[in-house]
Amino acid sequence: MQHQHVLEQIFALLEGETDWIAAMATVACELHSSFEHFHWTGFYRTVEPGVLKIGPYQGSHGCLTIPFEKGICGAAATTKQTQDVPDVHARPEHIACSSSTMSEVVVPVLDHQGNVVAVIDVDSNLPAAFSKEDIQLLETVCARLQQQFFVNTDL
Ligand code: SME
Repeated sequence: MQHQHVLEQIFALLEGETDWIAAMATVACELHSSFEHFHWTGFYRTVEPGVLKIGPYQGSHGCLTIPFEKGICGAAATTKQTQDVPDVHARPEHIACSSSTMSEVVVPVLDHQGNVVAVIDVDSNLPAAFSKEDIQLLETVCARLQQQFFVNTDL
C-alpha cells in the first residue's frame, strides 16, 4: 500500500515538469522521506561517455565522480541492469562513500537509444534492506523519468 501511495505522490509531483534536475531533486526527496531504511538516496548522471557525476541527493556526502568501471553505480551503468546488493561487503567493486552502508540498490535510467543517462542509487545501513516492492518502485520511477525526459522527440 505505502509503495503505491509513494508512486502516486511522485507521479503527481512530476506532472507537467520539464526540468530534469528539478525532477531528480523531487524524486530523491520523496523517496528519502518516505522510507526509514533509505539512508542515502540520490542520482548520478552521465556527464561524458563512461563518467558518472553526482546529482541531486539526500543524505550524507556522496562521492562526486564515479567512472563506469567502478562501484555498484558503475556496474548498473555498464550492464544497464538493476543492481540489488544485500551485502555491499560481498561486492569488491563497491565504493564506500559512507562506512555505515550495509546494502544498496542501483537502477539505471536509459534514453530512447538505450544509453544510460543516469542511475538512481539508494543505500541502507541495514543488511539486505531492500524488498522487491522497493526495487519495483525504483524501476517504475526510472521508467517514468525515461518516458518523461528521454523519449524520442524526432518521431
Ligand atoms: N556505493 C556507490 C557509490 C555511491 S555512494 O553510495 C553514495 C557505488 O559503489 O557505486
